Amino acid sequence: DALPIWVAAAMMGRKSSRAKEKKQKRMEERAAMDAVCAKVEAANKLDDPLAAFPVFKKYDRNGMNVLIECKRVADLDVCTLAWAMELTRSNMQSMYEQSEWGWKDREKKEELSDERAWYLVARDGAGRSPLAFSHFRFDVECGEEVLYCYEVQLESQVRRKGLGKFLMQILQLLANSTQMKKVMLTVFKHNLGAYQFFREAMQFDVDDTSPSVSGCCGDDCCYEILSRKTKHGETQHSHGG
Ligand SMILES: CC(C)(COP(=O)(O)OP(=O)(O)OC[C@H]1O[C@@H](n2cnc3c(N)ncnc32)[C@H](O)[C@@H]1OP(=O)(O)O)[C@@H](O)C(=O)NCCC(=O)NCCS
Repeated sequence: DALPIWVAAAMMGRKSSRAKEKKQKRMEERAAMDAVCAKVEAANKLDDPLAAFPVFKKYDRNGMNVLIECKRVADLDVCTLAWAMELTRSNMQSMYEQSEWGWKDREKKEELSDERAWYLVARDGAGRSPLAFSHFRFDVECGEEVLYCYEVQLESQVRRKGLGKFLMQILQLLANSTQMKKVMLTVFKHNLGAYQFFREAMQFDVDDTSPSVSGCCGDDCCYEILSRKTKHGETQHSHGG
């Protein structure tokens, strides 16, 4: 039995308008993703993301006289990169060994020397020897543009003088100025000092993607993903009202 022509026409119209809506949505999603990638690309093309903030290039509180530079890994001298690896090993090896990850020298070296790696390096103002660093990247994480802090590592003699906090504030500043949505990082739960530092002193939140929130690997997961929104992350994705 043939449908009355007007019913058939109406059904086809509805179907094609639904298809159009879907296509429209796909195109919007793609445009949004392109915009996210464009921001990350623009940040990665910068010559010196810290150039606009000269006051943050030195830290001279608590008896310290420290100079801070921001470089991509390709512009870092090999000695500094080797020092960063050694410092990470001496600060972190036992923390990794207490987790199911274990310490893997080669993987850490590859991570630290990945071409996407950016560095903040804090040096002694007089002797120029390196004292602390942060390895970070501008990247897309779960569809969002973020500054991911892979490491923040200080030599033991310069800890508890506010330098770690200052470096994290620089990351927050760079994330803001490059329009990233948040600063993110992963921390071992058993790294109690660092955990307190990020959660309390730096006011990082447990990220929605953290295992303890998403419930992906139970309670015995050894790490937490923390994040702190920039002003660009505050406006969008705010659920509820
Ligand atoms: C964690 C780390 C980056 C902190 O940097 P820092 O310069 O020592 O810390 P700050 O002086 O800026 O500390 C600011 C505040 O954070 C908190 N804090 C810092 N280190 C802490 C610790 N070990 N235990 C408890 N609270 C701590 C304190 O509230 C501190 O303020 P206060 O000194 O006035 O009490 C540094 O100690 C470090 O490099 N540790 C070894 C490597 C490491 O674990 N890195 C993190 C890997 S995810």
